[in-house]
Amino acid sequence: MSAFSSGELLAADPDWWRDAVVYQVYPRAFTDSTGSGVGDLEGVRSRIPYLRDLGVDALWLSPFYPSRLVDGGYDVDDYRDVDPSLGSLATFDAIVHDAHEAGLRVIVDIVPNHSSNRHVWFRQALASVSRSPARARYIFRRGRGKGALLPPNDWQSLFGGSAWQAAGDGDWYLHLFAVEQPDFNWSNREVRDEFLTTLRFWADRGVDGFRVDVAHGLAKDLSPRASVAAVSMGPVGAVDPEAPVRLSDGTDPLFDRDEVHEIFAEWRQLFDSYTPPRSAVAEAWVAPHRRALYARPSELGQAFEFALLEAPWSAEAFEAAILENLALSASVGSSSTWVLSNHDVVRHSSRYGLPEGADLPAWLMSHGVSPAEDLALGLRRARAATMLTLALPGSSYLYQGEELGLPEVADLPVEVLQDPIWERTGGLRKGRDGSRVPLPWTSEGPSFGFGSAAAVLPQPPWFGALSVEAQAGVDGSTLTMYREALALRRSMQRDATVEVRVAAEALYITRSDGWMSVTNFGLVPTAVPTGRVRLVSSGVSAVIEPSTTVWLEVGGVGEHQLG
Ligand code: GLC
Repeated sequence: MSAFSSGELLAADPDWWRDAVVYQVYPRAFTDSTGSGVGDLEGVRSRIPYLRDLGVDALWLSPFYPSRLVDGGYDVDDYRDVDPSLGSLATFDAIVHDAHEAGLRVIVDIVPNHSSNRHVWFRQALASVSRSPARARYIFRRGRGKGALLPPNDWQSLFGGSAWQAAGDGDWYLHLFAVEQPDFNWSNREVRDEFLTTLRFWADRGVDGFRVDVAHGLAKDLSPRASVAAVSMGPVGAVDPEAPVRLSDGTDPLFDRDEVHEIFAEWRQLFDSYTPPRSAVAEAWVAPHRRALYARPSELGQAFEFALLEAPWSAEAFEAAILENLALSASVGSSSTWVLSNHDVVRHSSRYGLPEGADLPAWLMSHGVSPAEDLALGLRRARAATMLTLALPGSSYLYQGEELGLPEVADLPVEVLQDPIWERTGGLRKGRDGSRVPLPWTSEGPSFGFGSAAAVLPQPPWFGALSVEAQAGVDGSTLTMYREALALRRSMQRDATVEVRVAAEALYITRSDGWMSVTNFGLVPTAVPTGRVRLVSSGVSAVIEPSTTVWLEVGGVGEHQLG
């Protein structure tokens, strides 16, 4: 028996995040412990044994702060508290305690680009006069035209409509997202200090790391010249075929400006004042070469890699995204990150079941009818893609429910939609709720084990068949595949190097520690390379079937495979 508790063992490794498998929990859709129809922190806490058994290294909690939920909790009223409907700081502390005891780290989501309009600072700003110190914490500008009745410029919000809202006295405030999400003014020292205090607050409570929301948005150029340049903005995280291209040289007025890095350099000093240093990962939807800047050790240390998430199902596209990410992260001394799903995008088992280049927002608007989704193919490819990424060096970010192979719930009735995108686009886009439907834990019950009452965001009847209960211990199930792959991954070497190559539509990842992963992107089976023994597979066959990944080891021992 070890003389150390799991918590002490965790504290001993400052580099844990470099190759961690991080599981994203969207608390309101995870487990409802009170029967309210909405998930909560006690619910998260009750599932820590599940996460330990799944074999992940950390959990990342999407926002649980007090919020009116205009944007799923990314509209924060108070950065240093828990929404009463989700629990209390005591429940949060219990999660950190139990997670550490179970050998899991905890990452929280920090939302620094904007607060909610119910934040005390914003209420003070609205109650104050133009050009007051209270307004200087946000971005207020005079309107144009007679009576300042027109917005300062024609910038559009990422959720649709103008990015400006009238304050009622000739001033307008900027909101890149919903009207209820006013943007902070990061050139104001008071804002910077306030966030340092918030980061300390959570780090002192034992939080191991931070996921930094819209990290590329904090620095802005609000000069009149810039106002003319930017008339439209990219999408919020969603894979959007119509996304306008933004400047990617650090001079775009609103995103990815060079000055943003001063902010994160300051954060790094704070992170490094803890033992072990707190980790951070940037959510920055920017060009890959710019993304690496956020991942420098002198800044956040890591940044989500989204090129793979956006890549079509092809060996060459995957190879290119992987090689680029490996090279870029190595060039700045970071580790690579792999992401296939999160709460902002259509789940990967649905994306891969749709024809290449499908217009995802339009598909959602058709309630998933046009084009038709090939569920079986999507799941097959999703499993293969997951195993492929888990064989790569670096860390993997999994999104709750992907271990069940959940597809997007594309046919949510519009009356139940919660995403502000639906309202703000005047019903032209459904938004992201289809990836946020509460998890099915059991095959039966009013909300398939999510809670004792029906979930507020309704689950489809077919969810029960994909539940944890239906898959646990079942050979060949997606949950079993994740468990086996995550367990085997632990025996891979942390500092292994890889060789990535494509031959005959199969992607070969050869690791320096003797492991090999082969993914068949083609339409005909591929042979298992000679001298290799199959360890775990996303499909069942003696050959490597289309849309399948197998992990192999140098031969000698008996064959072991799933299903
Ligand atoms: C990030 C979040 C997304 C949210 C947006 C605004 O992109 O992931 O869910 O809507 O920021 O906070």
